[in-house]
Amino acid sequence: MAQVLILYSTTDGHTIEICKRLKSVIEGSGDSVEMANLADDPRLGDFQFDKVVIGASIRYGKHQKTVYEFIQDNGGTLDKYPNALFSVNVVARKPEKNTPETNPYLQKFLKQIDWKPQNLGVFAGKIVYPALGPVDRTMIRFIMWMTKGPTDPTGTYEFTDWDKVEEFGRRIAGL
Ligand SMILES: Cc1cc2nc3c(=O)[nH]c(=O)nc-3n(C[C@H](O)[C@H](O)[C@H](O)COP(=O)(O)O)c2cc1C
Repeated sequence: MAQVLILYSTTDGHTIEICKRLKSVIEGSGDSVEMANLADDPRLGDFQFDKVVIGASIRYGKHQKTVYEFIQDNGGTLDKYPNALFSVNVVARKPEKNTPETNPYLQKFLKQIDWKPQNLGVFAGKIVYPALGPVDRTMIRFIMWMTKGPTDPTGTYEFTDWDKVEEFGRRIAGL
């Protein structure tokens, strides 16, 4: 039985839901999983683990600063373990942008960091218009309108392909 550490970065919590689904799949395969929020400035030395996964969401084109910083500080250590990275964004709802090779945010991110994750994932996220403040709601509605997505300000739209998340979980369990 291996121990899997999942480090995540989230703004509104959807990435945690994805991590929880991964955890349930991985635990179903016999490994144990511990999750930690990168916003809490975790230290790898404080955890017992055999594999490590980093998951982070996009906001206005970028992952959070903590994700860049953590990877820059710990890339050498991450390399010593079977590892994976996934990104969550709404552009990934589009079939032509939903793979690690075709998702622009993941591709840009990989160019900005020194670490080369061994396994990559990209998942479409969720938009909860009523939960957003007026500025964010207007911005996201505008971006959605530009990209032919849903713009109803009272709507909640979950684009995540949970089968794909589970498949990624099985991949991690198999590392
Ligand atoms: C204010 C705001 C800005 C966002 N900016 C982008 C963006 O630039 N590109 C994109 O693909 N998705 C964008 N998203 C979508 C988020 O990545 C998506 O909602 C994701 O599920 C958020 O995950 P989280 O709840 O873990 O933070 C944005 C969402 C919000 C609310």
